[in-house]
Amino acid sequence: MVDAVLQAVAGDVPVTVKMRRGSDDSPAAEARFWAILDGAIARGIAAATVHPRTVEQKYQGPSRWPFLAGVKAHVGAFPILGSGDLFSAFDVLAMRRETAVDGVTIARGCIGNPFVFTQVQDLLAGRPALRPTAAQQRAAIARHWQLAVPFYGGEAKALPHVRMHVIKYGQYHPDPVWARTRLVTLRTPAGLLPLVDEVFADRFDADGDRELRPEHAVAPTIHACSE
Ligand SMILES: Cc1cc2nc3c(=O)[nH]c(=O)nc-3n(C[C@H](O)[C@H](O)[C@H](O)COP(=O)(O)O)c2cc1C
Repeated sequence: MVDAVLQAVAGDVPVTVKMRRGSDDSPAAEARFWAILDGAIARGIAAATVHPRTVEQKYQGPSRWPFLAGVKAHVGAFPILGSGDLFSAFDVLAMRRETAVDGVTIARGCIGNPFVFTQVQDLLAGRPALRPTAAQQRAAIARHWQLAVPFYGGEAKALPHVRMHVIKYGQYHPDPVWARTRLVTLRTPAGLLPLVDEVFADRFDADGDRELRPEHAVAPTIHACSE
């Protein structure tokens, strides 16, 4: 598969692979992990992302970060991106510190929270990370909607997908329980932006204190995916 993809892109784009740490916790599954990773690196991939849960494990139990440290020690300078349980910008710094991965990928933690990437950049630069203003949240949702409509082929088709995300944005509202009770009332495309204006109104801005702190992390609520 790696050979076929590398041939197809003919050097135009970097090819990466994404792996769990194995199908299960058996020594045979772990041996296959190393064989696949080493084989893909030998063929010329640019980087590998590792989510150190087993396939069997789904999302149960924590992502085993020490396994990532072992992967990084095994491959040396080859770039590894770590995955799993990054629910705030602080988690990203912790994973880098504990495992020495070269980068990370964030999945559940960026749903409803695209601001996490800027927050990571701020922390890496030694600056305090800031929570978004209500205006920034409104603008992000409006942009999300604008991009989703042509992607899904019209407002009616886009609405169920965007509605799910809008409810997730509400998890980062200063009053998330109230925000959810309002956002789940969304039924029509025309109702989306007025409702977002109401829920993310300027009066909900944190009163001058926008600094992100670890307690602002939101616990995961998505435990199943297409992986
Ligand atoms: C909605 C959703 C879709 C995903 N789709 C894929 C996928 O197609 N391929 C894949 O390798 N991983 C997929 N994942 C798994 C993530 O890339 C990631 O490894 C996993 O969720 C653990 O990271 P997290 O704790 O940051 O969510 C998906 C995750 C989510 C939440």
